Amino acid sequence: MSDIPRSPASSDTDVLIIGGGAAGLSLALKIADQAKVTILSKSSLDQGSTYYAQGGIAAVLDNHDSQESHVEDTLAAGDELCDKQVVEYTIARGRECIEWLVEQGVKFTRDMQAADNQPSSESFHLSKEGGHSHRRVVHAADATGRAVFEGLSAQVMEHPNITFRINTVAIDLITTDKLGLPGNRCLGAYVLNELSGQVSVYRARFVILATGGASKAYLYTSNPDGASGDGIAMAWRAGCKVANMEFNQFHPTCLYHPQAKSFLITEALRGEGGLLKLPDGTRFMKDYDSRGELAPRDIVARAIDSEMKRLGCNFVYLDISHKPDQFILKHFPTIHQRCLEFGIDITREQIPVVPAAHYSCGGIMVDQHGKTDVDNMYAIGETSFTGLHGANRMASNSLLECFVFAFAAAEDILARLDSVKFHDTIPSWDESKVTDSDEDVVIAHNWDEVRRFMWDYVGIVRTNKRLQRAQNRIDLLQQEIHWYYSKYRISRNLLELRNLTLVADLIIRSAISRKESRGLHYTLDYPDKLETPKNTILEPDNFQASDLKAVI
Ligand code: FAD
Ligand code: SIN
Repeated sequence: MSDIPRSPASSDTDVLIIGGGAAGLSLALKIADQAKVTILSKSSLDQGSTYYAQGGIAAVLDNHDSQESHVEDTLAAGDELCDKQVVEYTIARGRECIEWLVEQGVKFTRDMQAADNQPSSESFHLSKEGGHSHRRVVHAADATGRAVFEGLSAQVMEHPNITFRINTVAIDLITTDKLGLPGNRCLGAYVLNELSGQVSVYRARFVILATGGASKAYLYTSNPDGASGDGIAMAWRAGCKVANMEFNQFHPTCLYHPQAKSFLITEALRGEGGLLKLPDGTRFMKDYDSRGELAPRDIVARAIDSEMKRLGCNFVYLDISHKPDQFILKHFPTIHQRCLEFGIDITREQIPVVPAAHYSCGGIMVDQHGKTDVDNMYAIGETSFTGLHGANRMASNSLLECFVFAFAAAEDILARLDSVKFHDTIPSWDESKVTDSDEDVVIAHNWDEVRRFMWDYVGIVRTNKRLQRAQNRIDLLQQEIHWYYSKYRISRNLLELRNLTLVADLIIRSAISRKESRGLHYTLDYPDKLETPKNTILEPDNFQASDLKAVI
């Protein structure tokens, strides 16, 4: 076993950020004037959820709106499980986030001046989405994530203190506890270079998990391929608590088309008058909720699921074709274009849609600065659990949370920068006991299996029996993957599968332990709510030495 040198090596960095989405990029920009930052991304720059965000960012900017109202709507969507203090804290910072993004060069859609029909430099066009009682969603047409990503990544690329490495997959965190030293402090991470196959030690004074969500645990999802919950799994193995994993959000409207992988139809389309219809043209949402198409997502997704099961159909329709062509083209150019590629002209035709897994409301437990249970380690963005979303996230509150908690973590790190030193010696990755796999089919097979039974048994409507079936299968799969991981050389696919099955296990365990129906967790065996709602908090079992190849 060799050690990395005491003098700083090229992979030493003050702050190691794992993840280059909205959360990771914002944190980097906030600290890079005072610290050396390295951002790792396991795929190309546009492969996080951030790039695909459509609707926008919720912030109170209209004079007729108020922070109290945004707080109230968020609490209502969260079905009594939001942390009110965190909700108030986050919402109070909405304006600051939008102003900062504009300074970084993000171009949001502006309102038209009534007199000359020109974009106003003063005010933003605000849209509306499910659960919001006011128009308060700042957006860049229907491609807000792309605009945010382009603005922030341009700044990051120019900053001399920021190094950005793509095709680098964090495998596991290195902590004093794992090395048999006192306390539990994060010292860095083992990282796979996907192109060379080499594993390096990245030594850091602070490590930030900004790895996004875990919706890839489900067969149908709006998320890009990398949403395999790596951060949650790594944090769990490092000793962090996770909370509310049962609340995986299903977005009601993803395009249904055999060739359309993961394409979302934004809720803002319903905010601008889009109607949900059955195949015979009947509207149905008012039968489920007085807010109709703009009820919170959990309600709309369940209603669609119930109608699809009742009628035995594969999809329902979303229809905006009653609006003028120019209006549709101006507000939804990306969706219009993408649907045309599949032969659907949304100015004339209805869009076939189905619900799909979209967002992980649970995650790594953090405080108001994004600090985890492990010293010098933070988690921000979708991978974290801050208490903001409760049992169901309200639309467009996620990007807001990314920025607010990136700022808060940056403040905390900067205040502690001088007091935290690099750890001297860290063992390098040891592959002496592993060989190349001769049956990669196991990985592909298990990927499919876990995602299918999560969809069938741990989906929109759950029962005790279905959850138990899922638990039995995940136990077997975990054993098999554990064995495979300790025997064969790693690949990105294997790492993701290992993480995804662990996260699926956490979702199932959390779902089994909730004996009620609340927000996104709906079970036929406990259809009512308990009187005193509680978060589901899971604590890691004892660390298993075989999980860390480097120190065996
Ligand atoms: P991401 O943007 O997902 O970035 C994760 C990063 O981590 C990536 O760079 C990835 O490569 C990297 N990574 C992961 N694991 C590893 C690893 N092991 N090693 C190295 N790197 C790793 N929210 C809103 O508020 N408004 C919206 O309009 C909206 N629309 C959405 C539309 C779609 C289609 C989707 C999928 C989500 C949408 N959301 C929206 C949710 C929101 O986009 C995400 O919650 C948010 O972008 C998450 O940002 P993030 O920085 O936490 O993670
Ligand atoms: C959407 O545009 O419908 C997604 C918004 C979100 O997930 O917050």
